[in-house]
Amino acid sequence: MIELFLCMDKIRILDKEFALSIPYERIHEAVVSMADAIYANHKDSNPLFLCVLNGCFMVAGDLFKEYKGPCEISFIKLSSYSGTTTTGEVKKVIGLNQDIRDRDVIILEDIVDTGITISHLIRDLSGYAPKSIKVATLLLKPKAVQTNIRPDYVGLEIPNDFIVGYGLDYDGYGRNLKDIYKIIEE
Ligand code: IMP
Ligand code: MG
Repeated sequence: MIELFLCMDKIRILDKEFALSIPYERIHEAVVSMADAIYANHKDSNPLFLCVLNGCFMVAGDLFKEYKGPCEISFIKLSSYSGTTTTGEVKKVIGLNQDIRDRDVIILEDIVDTGITISHLIRDLSGYAPKSIKVATLLLKPKAVQTNIRPDYVGLEIPNDFIVGYGLDYDGYGRNLKDIYKIIEE
């Protein structure tokens, strides 16, 4: 039986405790700013958003309600994360069923941590000759980035702590939390 205790500003998921870190209101402000910033640069370009599942489903749902211009939205998947550390191994892109040649592609991510996932994704997508590739991420851990990838749009910069909620999981749980919680290290 999986236990998820909700008690004020602290929650427990599996064997770990988490404390409230970013309330939904703050997340929402950041999402609206990102939507406006992207629109300001892509008014006439009919961008194709490629949203990286699973984590980005919440940010995608909120961001596109605020995005004012014409755009296409598609979802792709690739996963390399297990537990609280990056494995370093990145799988292939699944679900790219759209022709991205000559398109302005915007990758939408929940979080850029080491940047390894996003740099592999950019390399793979570049092979399909898009006109441009930009990266928008709700969260960035600047101290964790190990590649020379710098996202073009960042909602919030956060410290190098493991977090859950708003689409982000700990071993599959916690994605449904509306707010973001950070791990309490023993
Ligand atoms: P990267 O390749 O290290 O940048 O990791 C990217 C992916 O790892 C993200 O899309 C998330 O799915 C996952 N990830 C990175 N940091 C966290 C975290 O703090 N909590 C939950 N998932 C994370
Ligand atoms: Mg992700």
